[in-house]
Amino acid sequence: MSTLNYDFFYDWVQTHLNIRLGAYKEKQLNRRIQTIMRQSGAASLEEYSDLIYGDEGIKKQFLDYITINVTEFFRNKDLFETFEELLITDLSMKFDKISIWSAACSIGAEPYSLAMIIDRNNLPLKQNILATDIDETILQRAKTGTFKESELKNVSLFDRTHYFNKEADRYVLNAHIRDMVDFKKHDLVLDEFRPNLHVIVCRNVTIYFKNEVKEDIYRRMSRALVKGGLLFTGATETIYQPEQFGLKKVSSFIYEKMS
Ligand SMILES: C[S@@+](CC[C@H](N)C(=O)[O-])C[C@H]1O[C@@H](n2cnc3c(N)ncnc32)[C@H](O)[C@@H]1O
Repeated sequence: MSTLNYDFFYDWVQTHLNIRLGAYKEKQLNRRIQTIMRQSGAASLEEYSDLIYGDEGIKKQFLDYITINVTEFFRNKDLFETFEELLITDLSMKFDKISIWSAACSIGAEPYSLAMIIDRNNLPLKQNILATDIDETILQRAKTGTFKESELKNVSLFDRTHYFNKEADRYVLNAHIRDMVDFKKHDLVLDEFRPNLHVIVCRNVTIYFKNEVKEDIYRRMSRALVKGGLLFTGATETIYQPEQFGLKKVSSFIYEKMS
């Protein structure tokens, strides 16, 4: 089997698709590239890049495959409960109105979970929840607010009955919750971060990045938070020595901006 020319492919993707593959953990990513390339029938990455260039379907399939979109509402329910408690007891005491960013939000289950928490507890938002992802296709789906039963497994009966309508085998979020979230395309590696945020929820994406990229993201997120603001990470994304980023641990996977 010939060795694949990953350097060529990384450069090609950066130029033509504006994604910096070099930011991601190499072994895992290359394995995925190889699998999806072989599925397309291409024998080399040069051939595969030609296919991506000439066929929107193959391009979409490639982007869908490398951006892993697995998600659900209130992912790690216990952590979300602690987070909700902190929003009610800590944040809303410190700030009159809060700005929230759900980064790498996939199909929207995460920002919509936040919207339900805000609505249920009558917390005052400064502006709509900003929800971003690198994957435009997934954002189109997110905007529909339509979900499968399996994605709702952590949604309480209260939230289900108050915020969703069942249409055939799908659950559709009501317009009030959908209107609380603004979806935008955003690349955590290449794009600027919105400043003056009170909450950043960034979960289950930094695990895919190389250490130096992950650290740069946490540094920039810390800068984007106001003093006392909170960063909520995924259940495998412990930040070691958070002080180096100007953060302090307040609970498992929840960090506060220090100064
Ligand atoms: C596993 S999902 C996590 C979804 C949600 N945050 C959760 O924890 O359930 C990872 C998401 O990160 C997005 N992603 C990957 N690379 C990204 C990047 N460079 N910038 C922004 N989002 C990215 C993917 O498109 C995908 O939707």
